[in-house]
Amino acid sequence: MINTPFYYYDLNLLDKTLQSIDTNIKGNPFKVHYALKANAEEKILKIISDHGFGADCVSGNEINKALECGFNHNEVVLAGVGKSDNEIRTAIDNNIHSINCESIEEIRVIAEIAQKEVNIALRINPNINANTHPSITTGTSKDKFGIPTQNLWEAIEEIKKYPNLNFIGLHFHLGSQITDMLPFKKLSDEVNSIQSYLISKEIKLPHLNMGGGIGIDYNSPKDNPIPNFEDYFNVFKTHLNVLENQTVHFELGRSIIGQSGSLISKVLYVKNGANIKFAIIDAGMTDLIRPALYNSFHAIENISSDRGNETYQVVGPICESTDTFGNALLTDTNRGDYLKIFSAGAYGQVLSSNYNLRDSPKSIYSDQYQLDEILLEQNERKSKNKHM
Ligand code: LLP
Repeated sequence: MINTPFYYYDLNLLDKTLQSIDTNIKGNPFKVHYALKANAEEKILKIISDHGFGADCVSGNEINKALECGFNHNEVVLAGVGKSDNEIRTAIDNNIHSINCESIEEIRVIAEIAQKEVNIALRINPNINANTHPSITTGTSKDKFGIPTQNLWEAIEEIKKYPNLNFIGLHFHLGSQITDMLPFKKLSDEVNSIQSYLISKEIKLPHLNMGGGIGIDYNSPKDNPIPNFEDYFNVFKTHLNVLENQTVHFELGRSIIGQSGSLISKVLYVKNGANIKFAIIDAGMTDLIRPALYNSFHAIENISSDRGNETYQVVGPICESTDTFGNALLTDTNRGDYLKIFSAGAYGQVLSSNYNLRDSPKSIYSDQYQLDEILLEQNERKSKNKHM
């Protein structure tokens, strides 16, 4: 018997998603780096590295994990506003593609730590609003990320002081869950003007990194399982002036793995509150914190029943009032039913915690079990009236 709650990954959908990216970047000097922070399950990382993508890391441990899972060191980048000296050493020792510096002070620290030549890029904060949730906006002047555009030349002068630093690129990232393409157009315009300025100073960089951020459809995951990569990449194909021999990097996280993962949980109790019916499930904010943290919506379905229609507030077992997945219109829901919480592949399992000393949710993959098989087994147990 498989214990709930667990994350279920549809590898077929992951494969189709990766292929859709390939189709949309074909023929362009584009390279995709997967943002490990979205989901760092080994099996998933191996699939994505086998597919030929690079890795975007934000910690020394992510670098090590990426290398263990087959990513090529030369296709690994490290960003992060507060890299520790040890993390910088990990990046240097492994000869990664580039360290993306987020402050002028960091440039000096990297130069001092490195006893050899090292590739660095500058992460620039372009001050563009991504029109997304404020908690996942990173590219405005209020945010801690990157070096303000007006300090770019000062940063370049700093790099020039250190002969062991190779300045190889510029990095930008506006934020996450961006569904409006206009911010990406604005970003392209801004990068074009920065590039013209650099060309006037006789600087031509081999790499541009436009970050990640394309959103997924949380409202209708079944209708739109694959993000609209066509519109996303078209913005850059149309508006970004790419120089000769220049490569453009993208670091996508959510859009690659978000829809392929769901959280499967069992209903423990159904309770009539004063005004609302609660479906109390065995997954909580410790398994998927996004609703509690950002008030974010995840579609929920009762996959054990297909009759009736009623609104339930789906809540977890944790002693916190924010431990709720919101209201959902579900089919008739009873103890022992399975609920599927959609679009949980990105920033789901990675953000799980052991609060209340709870177990970490496990991963089940579609090449091991089909969800139907798991349901069937459960129904047999239910019909024999066994405890869950
Ligand atoms: N590059 C950088 C520098 C980033 O900070 C991020 C995400 C990405 C790439 C990948 O962005 P994506 O393609 O996944 O949007 N926990 C939040 C999301 C935090 C995103 C952090 N940075 C959530 O659950 O919505």
